[in-house]
Amino acid sequence: MPEPFLTSGDLLARFQTLDSFLLQHQALWRPRPFHHLHLPWEAELPELAGWLRGRSLEQAEAGDSDLFALPAPAPFPTLAAQAQTLSQLGELPSRNSAERAHALSIDVPGRKLAQIQAFASHLQFRRHPTHWLDWCSGKGHLGRWLTQDDQRLTCLEYDPALVESGSALSKRLGLDARHLQQDVLADDCSERLTQEHTPVALHACGDLHVRLLQLASRNGCSQLAVAPCCYNRIAGKQYQPLSTAAQASALQLSRDDLGLPLSETVTAGARVRRQRNQSMAWRLAFDLLQRQLRGIDEYLPTPSLPSEWFSKTFARFCHDLATLRGMASPGDQDWVALEAQGWQRLAEVRNLELPRNLFRRPLELWLLLDRALYLEEQGYSVRLGTFCEYPLSPRNLLLLAERA
Ligand SMILES: C[S@@+](CC[C@H](N)C(=O)[O-])C[C@H]1O[C@@H](n2cnc3c(N)ncnc32)[C@H](O)[C@@H]1O
Repeated sequence: MPEPFLTSGDLLARFQTLDSFLLQHQALWRPRPFHHLHLPWEAELPELAGWLRGRSLEQAEAGDSDLFALPAPAPFPTLAAQAQTLSQLGELPSRNSAERAHALSIDVPGRKLAQIQAFASHLQFRRHPTHWLDWCSGKGHLGRWLTQDDQRLTCLEYDPALVESGSALSKRLGLDARHLQQDVLADDCSERLTQEHTPVALHACGDLHVRLLQLASRNGCSQLAVAPCCYNRIAGKQYQPLSTAAQASALQLSRDDLGLPLSETVTAGARVRRQRNQSMAWRLAFDLLQRQLRGIDEYLPTPSLPSEWFSKTFARFCHDLATLRGMASPGDQDWVALEAQGWQRLAEVRNLELPRNLFRRPLELWLLLDRALYLEEQGYSVRLGTFCEYPLSPRNLLLLAERA
């Protein structure tokens, strides 16, 4: 039997179970192995920690791609089984979408087109939409794909270049579309949403899609569809829960915590993975160096760096990064040994991240359910399920809401 998607009656119970699971195991998923030479939980679970620390980087990467089956010591298998059960979520019902003109797919990157088609085929509303509102639309590919002859389209986007090329694309196709330059977080955005709109948001980040839920419910939209992403793109340092249930929870989430669901690497190719590994191994090596140079045994954040930084020699990289962080020159070091230590730490970090990774999907679902419960409190009935396969986009969860 396929797993069911969630509907209004199931939301609160699943939320409460996830909430308890996440609260109970905070010690395992909150601390980031990248930031600590030793994690607080390692003392409690020495067998698991020792097993993970003894493995290679390749084993960590393979382990992450088949996480629930990892033969790690207790309590890993029990936690994996619980996380898997709690993360279960079925596909929303789909229908064969109406034939769309080939011209609509011109200029749309392949993966994006497949996501749009999947999103579109899972939209089911009782009322026929008359006016789509593509929220944070980019060039408006999604909105154009959805809009049939008897429907109108408004796209909201704040990047003027995307507004302009989106508008040109719509004009070329003879579509009745308005592409408006609009910061959706600005006060005047409220005027853009009215009852006649059916808002859709594909991969709108943190605050952006939350704003849609708030404005759409306040302004009387009767139906909407949202596939969120980048939960950690929020203005505040702490997550502001939306629903009464999440507000009552003891779970306090930092911006850093909100990055956990986004930490998987399914869509990265081999070259990107290699570059990322080098960047992380060098940063971890620099972290050892900075602890020694500053005489403070604490992680020091380093900014994101342009890719040229990783074509330097490792010694130059450390010198330049020390200067950037306002530290004294590292002088002469055994650079070969230090770099090797960085790679060794990377293998340990990646393996020690595996228990934490069990909580990625439960935390994502907790966040989605907070949104779903909020919409329910605003009078919507809600369905929550997947709209595409995980490898097409790890952000494959869709919220459909409608109210009478
Ligand atoms: C991840 S993209 C998604 C675009 C499109 N929905 C898609 O699936 O291709 C997010 C979009 O939000 C836009 N955006 C970011 N901040 C915004 C804001 N404050 N107001 C309006 N649009 C914004 C970005 O320029 C970008 O086009």
